[in-house]
Amino acid sequence: MVVAINYKTDEELAAMRRSGQIAGRVLAELRALVAPGVETRDLDAYAERRAEELGAEPAFKGYRGYPASLCTSVNEVIIHGIPSDRVLREGDIVGLDFGVLYQGFFGDAAVTCPVGRVAPLAEALIAAAETAFFKGLEQLRDDRRISDISHAVQASVEARGFSVIRDFVGHGIGRSLHEEPQIPNFGAPGRGPKIRRRLTLAIEPMIAAGRPEVEVLSDGWTACTRDRSLAAHFEHTVALTDDGPEILSLPLPADVPRRRLEEKPYA
Ligand code: MF3
Ligand code: CO
Repeated sequence: MVVAINYKTDEELAAMRRSGQIAGRVLAELRALVAPGVETRDLDAYAERRAEELGAEPAFKGYRGYPASLCTSVNEVIIHGIPSDRVLREGDIVGLDFGVLYQGFFGDAAVTCPVGRVAPLAEALIAAAETAFFKGLEQLRDDRRISDISHAVQASVEARGFSVIRDFVGHGIGRSLHEEPQIPNFGAPGRGPKIRRRLTLAIEPMIAAGRPEVEVLSDGWTACTRDRSLAAHFEHTVALTDDGPEILSLPLPADVPRRRLEEKPYA
Protein backbone atom coordinates (compact mmCIF):
# COMPACT_ATOMS: atom_id res chain seq x y z
CA MET A 1 0.00 0.00 0.00
CA VAL A 2 1.27 3.46 -0.85
CA VAL A 3 1.09 5.78 2.12
CA ALA A 4 1.15 9.54 1.52
CA ILE A 5 3.31 11.01 4.27
CA ASN A 6 3.59 14.79 4.64
CA TYR A 7 7.24 15.57 5.30
CA LYS A 8 7.67 19.07 6.74
CA THR A 9 9.83 21.99 5.60
CA ASP A 10 11.99 23.88 8.11
CA GLU A 11 9.31 26.57 8.34
CA GLU A 12 6.65 23.95 8.99
CA LEU A 13 8.80 22.31 11.65
CA ALA A 14 9.20 25.70 13.34
CA ALA A 15 5.42 26.19 13.33
CA MET A 16 4.90 22.70 14.73
CA ARG A 17 7.43 23.40 17.46
CA ARG A 18 5.27 26.31 18.55
CA SER A 19 2.00 24.40 18.53
CA GLY A 20 3.68 21.49 20.31
CA GLN A 21 5.16 23.75 22.95
CA ILE A 22 1.77 25.31 23.64
CA ALA A 23 0.20 21.87 24.13
CA GLY A 24 3.16 20.90 26.34
CA ARG A 25 2.93 24.09 28.36
CA VAL A 26 -0.77 23.63 29.08
CA LEU A 27 -0.22 19.99 30.05
CA ALA A 28 2.59 20.94 32.42
CA GLU A 29 0.32 23.44 34.14
CA LEU A 30 -2.56 20.95 34.28
CA ARG A 31 -0.30 18.38 35.86
CA ALA A 32 0.42 20.80 38.71
CA LEU A 33 -3.32 21.32 39.23
CA VAL A 34 -4.12 17.61 39.57
CA ALA A 35 -5.00 16.93 43.21
CA PRO A 36 -7.63 15.17 45.31
CA GLY A 37 -10.92 17.09 45.15
CA VAL A 38 -10.45 18.52 41.65
CA GLU A 39 -13.25 17.87 39.14
CA THR A 40 -12.09 16.76 35.70
CA ARG A 41 -14.24 19.47 34.09
CA ASP A 42 -12.18 22.10 35.97
CA LEU A 43 -9.08 20.80 34.19
CA ASP A 44 -10.90 21.00 30.86
CA ALA A 45 -11.95 24.60 31.48
CA TYR A 46 -8.40 25.53 32.46
CA ALA A 47 -6.93 23.91 29.34
CA GLU A 48 -9.37 25.69 27.06
CA ARG A 49 -8.70 29.07 28.64
CA ARG A 50 -4.91 28.67 28.62
CA ALA A 51 -4.82 27.57 24.98
CA GLU A 52 -6.76 30.67 24.04
CA GLU A 53 -4.49 32.90 26.13
CA LEU A 54 -1.53 31.49 24.23
CA GLY A 55 -3.23 32.20 20.90
CA ALA A 56 -4.13 28.61 20.05
CA GLU A 57 -7.37 26.74 19.49
CA PRO A 58 -8.12 23.53 21.37
CA ALA A 59 -7.91 20.79 18.74
CA PHE A 60 -10.22 18.13 20.11
CA LYS A 61 -13.41 20.10 20.75
CA GLY A 62 -15.83 19.20 17.97
CA TYR A 63 -13.41 16.73 16.41
CA ARG A 64 -15.77 13.96 15.27
CA GLY A 65 -18.20 15.38 17.78
CA TYR A 66 -15.89 15.13 20.82
CA PRO A 67 -17.55 17.40 23.42
CA ALA A 68 -14.55 18.85 25.33
CA SER A 69 -11.08 20.36 24.88
CA LEU A 70 -9.23 17.87 27.07
CA CYS A 71 -9.44 14.11 27.55
CA THR A 72 -9.37 13.08 31.23
CA SER A 73 -9.00 9.32 31.54
CA VAL A 74 -9.25 8.04 35.11
CA ASN A 75 -7.92 4.64 36.29
CA GLU A 76 -9.27 1.93 33.97
CA VAL A 77 -10.04 4.50 31.27
CA ILE A 78 -7.30 4.25 28.66
CA ILE A 79 -8.10 7.29 26.52
CA HIS A 80 -10.93 9.66 25.51
CA GLY A 81 -12.38 10.08 29.00
CA ILE A 82 -14.82 13.01 28.84
CA PRO A 83 -14.37 15.69 31.51
CA SER A 84 -17.30 15.81 33.94
CA ASP A 85 -18.18 16.54 37.55
CA ARG A 86 -16.20 13.46 38.54
CA VAL A 87 -13.98 14.31 41.48
CA LEU A 88 -10.39 13.03 41.49
CA ARG A 89 -9.57 11.00 44.62
CA GLU A 90 -6.28 10.27 46.32
CA GLY A 91 -4.88 7.11 44.72
CA ASP A 92 -6.48 7.66 41.29
CA ILE A 93 -4.39 8.05 38.17
CA VAL A 94 -5.57 10.38 35.42
CA GLY A 95 -4.48 10.58 31.81
CA LEU A 96 -4.56 14.11 30.42
CA ASP A 97 -4.52 14.36 26.63
CA PHE A 98 -4.46 17.79 25.00
CA GLY A 99 -4.10 19.04 21.45
CA VAL A 100 -3.99 22.50 19.93
CA LEU A 101 -4.12 24.12 16.53
CA TYR A 102 -1.73 27.04 16.23
CA GLN A 103 -1.13 28.92 12.99
CA GLY A 104 -2.26 25.99 10.89
CA PHE A 105 -0.46 23.17 12.69
CA PHE A 106 -1.48 20.68 15.33
CA GLY A 107 0.36 19.72 18.50
CA ASP A 108 -0.79 16.70 20.52
CA ALA A 109 0.53 15.39 23.84
CA ALA A 110 -0.59 13.34 26.82
CA VAL A 111 0.61 12.39 30.26
CA THR A 112 -0.74 10.17 33.02
CA CYS A 113 -0.55 11.71 36.50
CA PRO A 114 -0.91 10.30 39.99
CA VAL A 115 -3.53 11.96 42.19
CA GLY A 116 -1.82 12.37 45.54
CA ARG A 117 -0.16 9.16 46.71
CA VAL A 118 -0.85 6.13 44.52
CA ALA A 119 -0.20 2.38 44.77
CA PRO A 120 3.16 1.03 43.59
CA LEU A 121 1.42 -0.74 40.69
CA ALA A 122 -0.05 2.57 39.49
CA GLU A 123 3.34 4.25 39.72
CA ALA A 124 5.00 1.41 37.83
CA LEU A 125 2.36 1.56 35.10
CA ILE A 126 2.79 5.32 34.63
CA ALA A 127 6.56 4.90 34.47
CA ALA A 128 6.20 2.07 31.94
CA ALA A 129 4.08 4.22 29.60
CA GLU A 130 6.62 7.04 29.72
CA THR A 131 9.58 4.70 29.26
CA ALA A 132 7.86 3.00 26.33
CA PHE A 133 7.48 6.37 24.63
CA PHE A 134 11.24 7.00 24.94
CA LYS A 135 12.02 3.48 23.70
CA GLY A 136 9.85 4.22 20.67
CA LEU A 137 11.50 7.61 20.19
CA GLU A 138 14.95 5.97 20.07
CA GLN A 139 13.83 4.26 16.87
CA LEU A 140 13.12 7.58 15.14
CA ARG A 141 16.15 7.33 12.84
CA ASP A 142 16.46 7.38 9.11
CA ASP A 143 17.72 3.80 9.01
CA ARG A 144 14.53 2.46 10.59
CA ARG A 145 10.92 1.73 9.64
CA ILE A 146 7.72 2.66 11.44
CA SER A 147 7.18 -0.77 12.96
CA ASP A 148 10.57 -0.51 14.67
CA ILE A 149 8.89 2.09 16.89
CA SER A 150 5.93 -0.27 17.43
CA HIS A 151 8.17 -3.17 18.31
CA ALA A 152 10.32 -1.17 20.73
CA VAL A 153 7.24 0.09 22.57
CA GLN A 154 5.76 -3.38 22.86
CA ALA A 155 9.00 -5.00 24.02
CA SER A 156 9.52 -2.35 26.68
CA VAL A 157 5.98 -2.61 28.05
CA GLU A 158 5.82 -6.41 28.05
CA ALA A 159 9.24 -6.69 29.72
CA ARG A 160 7.62 -4.98 32.71
CA GLY A 161 4.69 -7.39 32.71
CA PHE A 162 2.16 -4.96 31.27
CA SER A 163 0.23 -5.13 28.01
CA VAL A 164 -0.14 -2.78 25.05
CA ILE A 165 -3.53 -1.67 23.79
CA ARG A 166 -4.04 -2.72 20.18
CA ASP A 167 -7.26 -0.92 19.29
CA PHE A 168 -5.71 2.56 19.10
CA VAL A 169 -2.56 3.81 17.39
CA GLY A 170 -0.17 6.74 17.24
CA HIS A 171 -0.17 8.81 14.07
CA GLY A 172 1.42 11.30 11.74
CA ILE A 173 0.53 14.90 12.57
CA GLY A 174 0.82 18.32 10.94
CA ARG A 175 -1.84 20.37 9.19
CA SER A 176 -4.20 17.58 10.27
CA LEU A 177 -4.43 16.08 13.74
CA HIS A 178 -4.20 12.61 12.25
CA GLU A 179 -2.02 12.00 9.20
CA GLU A 180 -0.29 8.96 7.77
CA PRO A 181 1.38 6.82 8.94
CA GLN A 182 -0.42 4.97 11.70
CA ILE A 183 1.87 3.76 14.49
CA PRO A 184 0.66 0.65 16.28
CA ASN A 185 2.20 0.07 19.69
CA PHE A 186 2.93 -3.58 18.89
CA GLY A 187 4.24 -5.72 16.07
CA ALA A 188 7.27 -7.20 14.36
CA PRO A 189 10.14 -4.81 13.56
CA GLY A 190 11.26 -3.82 10.07
CA ARG A 191 7.84 -3.26 8.52
CA GLY A 192 5.91 -0.26 7.28
CA PRO A 193 7.12 3.00 5.77
CA LYS A 194 10.78 3.95 6.02
CA ILE A 195 11.46 6.71 8.50
CA ARG A 196 12.88 9.81 6.83
CA ARG A 197 13.98 13.21 8.05
CA ARG A 198 11.21 15.82 8.48
CA LEU A 199 8.68 13.20 9.45
CA THR A 200 6.42 14.40 12.31
CA LEU A 201 4.63 11.88 14.48
CA ALA A 202 2.55 11.58 17.62
CA ILE A 203 4.04 8.56 19.40
CA GLU A 204 1.58 7.43 22.07
CA PRO A 205 1.86 4.20 24.01
CA MET A 206 -1.41 3.16 25.65
CA ILE A 207 -0.91 0.34 28.13
CA ALA A 208 -2.76 -1.74 30.70
CA ALA A 209 -1.84 -3.49 33.90
CA GLY A 210 -4.07 -6.43 32.87
CA ARG A 211 -5.52 -7.62 29.57
CA PRO A 212 -5.33 -5.37 26.50
CA GLU A 213 -8.95 -5.72 25.36
CA VAL A 214 -10.93 -2.49 25.14
CA GLU A 215 -14.54 -1.59 25.84
CA VAL A 216 -15.94 1.73 24.61
CA LEU A 217 -18.70 2.98 26.92
CA SER A 218 -22.14 4.03 25.70
CA ASP A 219 -21.08 7.70 25.44
CA GLY A 220 -19.25 6.56 22.32
CA TRP A 221 -15.86 7.83 23.55
CA THR A 222 -14.69 6.55 26.92
CA ALA A 223 -12.33 3.65 26.18
CA CYS A 224 -11.72 1.37 29.20
CA THR A 225 -9.91 -1.87 29.70
CA ARG A 226 -12.50 -4.68 29.47
CA ASP A 227 -11.12 -6.25 32.62
CA ARG A 228 -11.14 -2.83 34.33
CA SER A 229 -7.43 -3.03 35.05
CA LEU A 230 -5.52 0.26 35.33
CA ALA A 231 -4.39 1.95 32.13
CA ALA A 232 -1.85 4.64 31.29
CA HIS A 233 -1.08 6.79 28.24
CA PHE A 234 1.88 8.98 27.34
CA GLU A 235 2.25 11.01 24.15
CA HIS A 236 4.43 13.60 22.51
CA THR A 237 4.52 15.19 19.07
CA VAL A 238 8.02 14.49 17.70
CA ALA A 239 10.07 15.06 14.57
CA LEU A 240 13.12 13.54 12.98
CA THR A 241 15.30 16.57 12.22
CA ASP A 242 18.80 16.79 10.75
CA ASP A 243 20.03 16.76 14.36
CA GLY A 244 18.14 13.59 15.26
CA PRO A 245 14.85 13.02 17.06
CA GLU A 246 13.24 16.08 18.64
CA ILE A 247 10.30 16.30 21.01
CA LEU A 248 8.20 19.17 19.68
CA SER A 249 5.68 19.21 22.53
CA LEU A 250 8.04 20.05 25.38
CA PRO A 251 6.52 22.86 27.44
CA LEU A 252 7.00 26.38 26.24
CA PRO A 253 8.78 28.26 29.05
CA ALA A 254 6.20 29.83 31.35
CA ASP A 255 7.37 33.40 30.91
CA VAL A 256 7.19 33.78 27.14
CA PRO A 257 4.59 36.44 26.42
CA ARG A 258 2.15 35.84 23.62
CA ARG A 259 3.56 38.75 21.62
CA ARG A 260 6.96 37.08 21.55
CA LEU A 261 5.36 33.78 20.65
CA GLU A 262 3.76 35.29 17.59
CA GLU A 263 6.87 37.07 16.39
CA LYS A 264 9.12 34.16 15.78
CA PRO A 265 9.51 30.53 16.49
CA TYR A 266 10.65 29.96 20.03
CA ALA A 267 13.67 27.77 19.35
N1 MF3 B 1 -4.45 12.38 21.36
C1 MF3 B 1 -5.69 11.84 20.85
C2 MF3 B 1 -5.43 11.41 19.43
O1 MF3 B 1 -4.35 11.44 19.02
C3 MF3 B 1 -6.77 12.78 21.02
C4 MF3 B 1 -7.99 12.63 20.23
S1 MF3 B 1 -9.34 13.00 21.16
C5 MF3 B 1 -10.48 13.51 20.05
O2 MF3 B 1 -6.26 10.98 18.70
F1 MF3 B 1 -11.51 13.84 20.65
F2 MF3 B 1 -10.01 14.51 19.39
F3 MF3 B 1 -10.71 12.51 19.20
CO1 CO C 1 -2.58 11.61 19.40
